[in-house]
Amino acid sequence: MPRYAYVNGRYLPHAQAAVHIEDRGYQFADGVYEVVPVFKGALVDEGPHLDRLERSLRELRIDMPVARATLKLISRELMRRNDLTQGMLYLQVTRGVAPRDHKFPAQATPALVMTTRQTKPHSEALLNQGVKVIAVPDIRWERCDIKSISLLPNVLAKQQATEAGAYEAWQIDGEGYVTEGSSTNAWIVSAEGKVVTRDASHAILSGITRLSLLKLIREAGFEVEERAFTLEEAKTAREAFLTSSSSFVLPIVAIDETPVGNGHPGILSGKLRARYLDYMADLGADLGAGTGAGADLEGGTGAGAGIEGAA
Ligand code: PDD
Repeated sequence: MPRYAYVNGRYLPHAQAAVHIEDRGYQFADGVYEVVPVFKGALVDEGPHLDRLERSLRELRIDMPVARATLKLISRELMRRNDLTQGMLYLQVTRGVAPRDHKFPAQATPALVMTTRQTKPHSEALLNQGVKVIAVPDIRWERCDIKSISLLPNVLAKQQATEAGAYEAWQIDGEGYVTEGSSTNAWIVSAEGKVVTRDASHAILSGITRLSLLKLIREAGFEVEERAFTLEEAKTAREAFLTSSSSFVLPIVAIDETPVGNGHPGILSGKLRARYLDYMADLGADLGAGTGAGADLEGGTGAGAGIEGAA
C-alpha cells in the first residue's frame, strides 16, 4: 500500500513528497513540530498537542498554516490513507519559503508538512530489562519550552547515548540538575518514595505525556513533586523512568552505569506505564479499544510499590 505524506495542501506518495530548498525550516530550522501518538487507531491527547503547537508558533510569531479544525481533518485523512493504527503523526510548520535572509521575510506563507509512521510497541524484553541513560551537559538554548525543529544538541546527545549503548541521554544544566532527555522527560522516584519530575519552565519541553501522567498520578491520590533534581539524587533514587509520545513510560535501570535501585525496572514505574497504556486505550474506547492491562496504582506490594509519604 503506498504511504502518503501531506505537503502544503497535497497528499503525495511519501517517497516523492518534498519541500522547496529555500524553505526556512531547511535553511534556518525556523519552524516547529509536534509528534502525536496514535494508539488503537486514535490520536492520543490531540487537543493538548495542538495547544502546544499553537503556543510554539505564537512564541516564534509564525501564523497557524490552516485553521485548527482543518488541521484535524488533514490528520484524519492522512491516517485513513495510511491505515495508521499504532504509531505517530508528525506535524511540522515552518515560516515558509523565502530568499535566504535571517530576518523574517516581509511575506511568507507558513509551510505545513504531515507524515505518519506505523510503529510496533516496545518489546516485552525491553520493558522487562529497562533501559540505560547517560548524562551529558545541556548545551541547548534558553527556550527549550518551544518545540523547535532546531534539534542539533538533542541529535548529538542521542548519538552519544547510542554509542555508549544507552537508550537516552539526560541533559544536565550548569548547576548539576537534570533538565530532560534528548527527546523525553526525566522522572525519578526519590529515596523518600515521591515521584519527582522537573517543573515546567523555559528549561524543558513540557511533555504532553508528562502532563497526562501527572494528572493520572494525582487522580490516584498520590503526591508528585515538580522540582529540579540533581544527577546525584537520580543515581541514588529508588526508581527512574522517562516519558514521551513514542516511549510512553519507560523504566530506567542505570544512569552512567550506576544501577538505579536494585538495577531492575521499578515496580511503580511499571504500574505507571500500565496505567498510561490504559489511559490511551480509554481515549480510543469509542473505536472498541481496551488493553485490559488492568493497571492498579494502589494494588502493589513490596518495596517501592506505593508512593510512601504521599497524601
Ligand atoms: N520528543 N523533551 C523533549 C526535548 C522532546 O523532544 C520530547 C518529545 C519530550 C516529550 O514530550 P511528549 O511527551 O509531548 O512527547 C520531552 C518527540 C517524541 C520527538 O522529538 O520525537
